[in-house]
Amino acid sequence: MKGTIVKCLEGLILEKFGAPTWKQILTTSGMPESSFFTTTTNVPDADVVKMIGATATVLKITGEQAMEAFGEYWSTKYAPSIYEVYFAKAKTAREFLMSLDGVHVAMTKNAGAQPPRFTYKWTHERELVMTYSSARGLVALMPGLIRGVGKYYRETVDVTVTGNDVKIQFTR
Ligand code: HEM
Repeated sequence: MKGTIVKCLEGLILEKFGAPTWKQILTTSGMPESSFFTTTTNVPDADVVKMIGATATVLKITGEQAMEAFGEYWSTKYAPSIYEVYFAKAKTAREFLMSLDGVHVAMTKNAGAQPPRFTYKWTHERELVMTYSSARGLVALMPGLIRGVGKYYRETVDVTVTGNDVKIQFTR
């Protein structure tokens, strides 16, 4: 997976907990504490999963809470700072989420990444089912990322996951 995911996690930990905690997360993941990442580095998927797990261990929180924190930071701070153009194009959470498959396709072209793909189905006026598709099986990251998108647009979104279907209820 592209190092951008790890850069985001690193940014979150450095900002909220500091460098010693990040080093601890790296060593708990079995990686050298001097590990260095860039947005385009290729990081083995297993290492990314280990780092999220180690975040939970080191911070004494659940894996779910670690993914929630990651998703919130990605969608409210990290992604808006480096992929600003995609956020600028959308005025609401629903517009942004509807653009997200295209955003990931664009990532494939630019960076040679293999991001997830999404299909969309509106089940009610304010209810969208976004179906996740990726060989990685990381659908569990979706709720935190989507709630983060809601926060970015100052909206409350309700998210429930069934298999690869992610149901999102909007308030507007
Ligand atoms: C502008 C915002 C976003 C950008 C630029 C972006 C870009 C990317 C990139 C570059 C990757 C790594 C892919 C790879 O290395 O193969 C990735 C992974 C991923 N993205 Fe996004 N993303 C954004 C927002 C979101 C949001 C809001 C969601 C959830 C709805 C999401 C869901 C995921 C998931 C689950 C992965 C993990 C990889 C996988 O499951 O295959 N992304 N994204």
